[in-house]
Amino acid sequence: MNTRSPKLGTADRIQHAGLRAKLMSAEQAAALIQPGWNVGMSGFTGAGYPKAVPLALARHIEAAQAAGQPFRIGLWTGASTAPELDGALAKVNGIDMRLPYQSDPTVRSQINSGHMQYVDIHLSHVAQFVWFGFLGHLNVAVIEVAAILPDGRLVPSTSVGNNKTWIDQADYVILEVNRRQPAALEGMHDIYYGTAVPPHRQPILMTEPGQRIGEPYLRCDPAKVIAVVETDAPDRNSKFAEPDANSNAIASHIIEFLQHEVKKGRLPKDLLPIQSGVGNIANAVLAGLNNGPFEHLNAYTEVLQDGMLDMLKSGKLDTASCTALSLSPDAAAYFNEHVAEFKDRIVIRPQEISNHPELIRRMGLIAMNAMIEADIYGNVDSTHLMGSAIMNGIGGSGDFARNAYLSIFMSPSVAKDGAISCIVPMASHVDHTEHDVQVIVTERGLADLRGLAPQQRARAIIKACAHPDYHDALTDYMERARAGANGQHTPHLLTEALSWHQRYLEKGSMRS
Ligand code: COA
Repeated sequence: MNTRSPKLGTADRIQHAGLRAKLMSAEQAAALIQPGWNVGMSGFTGAGYPKAVPLALARHIEAAQAAGQPFRIGLWTGASTAPELDGALAKVNGIDMRLPYQSDPTVRSQINSGHMQYVDIHLSHVAQFVWFGFLGHLNVAVIEVAAILPDGRLVPSTSVGNNKTWIDQADYVILEVNRRQPAALEGMHDIYYGTAVPPHRQPILMTEPGQRIGEPYLRCDPAKVIAVVETDAPDRNSKFAEPDANSNAIASHIIEFLQHEVKKGRLPKDLLPIQSGVGNIANAVLAGLNNGPFEHLNAYTEVLQDGMLDMLKSGKLDTASCTALSLSPDAAAYFNEHVAEFKDRIVIRPQEISNHPELIRRMGLIAMNAMIEADIYGNVDSTHLMGSAIMNGIGGSGDFARNAYLSIFMSPSVAKDGAISCIVPMASHVDHTEHDVQVIVTERGLADLRGLAPQQRARAIIKACAHPDYHDALTDYMERARAGANGQHTPHLLTEALSWHQRYLEKGSMRS
């Protein structure tokens, strides 16, 4: 079988004659976007984002600003994108408001310096917030696709994210047809058009990760399309770090725990569908599962990254459902060469479905997400550094943690060469409350918090997860809090609870 994706010509990629007539340069298309507009762009964790119009828009904004005309936009996406989108627009100070997830250094620094507003919301909430009208008016959608069919339907690219909602809700649509994306992506997507606003909602009839409940194409009214731009550029995803000793240790604690749960009869031997978050640690845990004892696994997740592709290759994973293929350049090259082999085993869905609470609860997911810090009572911070500065955003971690069968949070026990303890007396920001966190794991060990009261949780977390450098100080805090607090349910010393963070800000270390 020839698995190489043929490079098709313009007429093959843009089969709708009316839309072919709207072909123009990225500069011409970008010039149609007006100051103050809300722009919904495709893109999810570095996959399927438009690659030419945002760069042209950044040039356009820069020229307007140089001529004394203020020009900023509201930028909505699926999740994080790439330097050609977030980075380019942020560098010209062109983003007034950003949502719902970012990981770009320039965007991050503009948010943290107060030059950009950032609305960090659960990824499953974005589409419905737009339908409810909570986010204001969407003026234009800029969407990367792999091809346009004769009737105007669109073959989605390497991510779906919020594209269905952007296309439905925007006044205008600009399409980027990227001939570099494999033509064989066609058929891999499952776009569900059955969602509605309350009180008209019906059950979503999906019970297994690999099930298809929608259609492979995005619907789009050709009359809304104001520009079609051709591109030929790869997704720009970065390489993952090789798993280190810490992430290998975290992976082995999780695997041991899952084996224990199987033995206890609380999990079937092929587990339940796994969800794995973004980042290096999550990727390393997948590598651990790939070498581990479990067979015939399934994934119902947001992002399919290298570790999961490896599990599909090895046969450890039967099927994977996601909203984006977030692959390193090497893994993307492999995927593009062998896309036909993965076609029946990967389903790419809108993020309102990949992260849907109803489906996550029904299928009973094992959710594994990285965190920045956890406190001794099990509250988890996934987004903020030292209370005030944003790192990336909550992404889908809340969608999964709040509704999963098992919600696991993981981190090395220390950061910045040991100057920061990731287990702290009180989390400096809380994304996942003690009620949504069942397991915390560091390279030191795993704390199973299910069924434990707060003081029991504190003892379990300090014992299993804290780094030896901070173990005694945490125990000391816990004991003094019990003696001095105004209540014994979740004892804290309020004047001291965040002193570790303050010490780091003042002295560069949490050590006393
Ligand atoms: N305080 C300050 N900095 C910390 C820290 C802490 N407690 N813990 C980690 N960090 C820093 C690390 O030092 C590192 O900094 P660097 O980039 O300057 O080296 C950075 O945070 C990333 O840490 P790393 O250990 O490499 O983890 P990661 O790549 O796995 O990312 C998160 C961890 C939490 C930042 C990332 O997973 C995230 O953004 N999560 C939120 C969204 C989410 O969970 N989505 C999944 C749903 S699908």
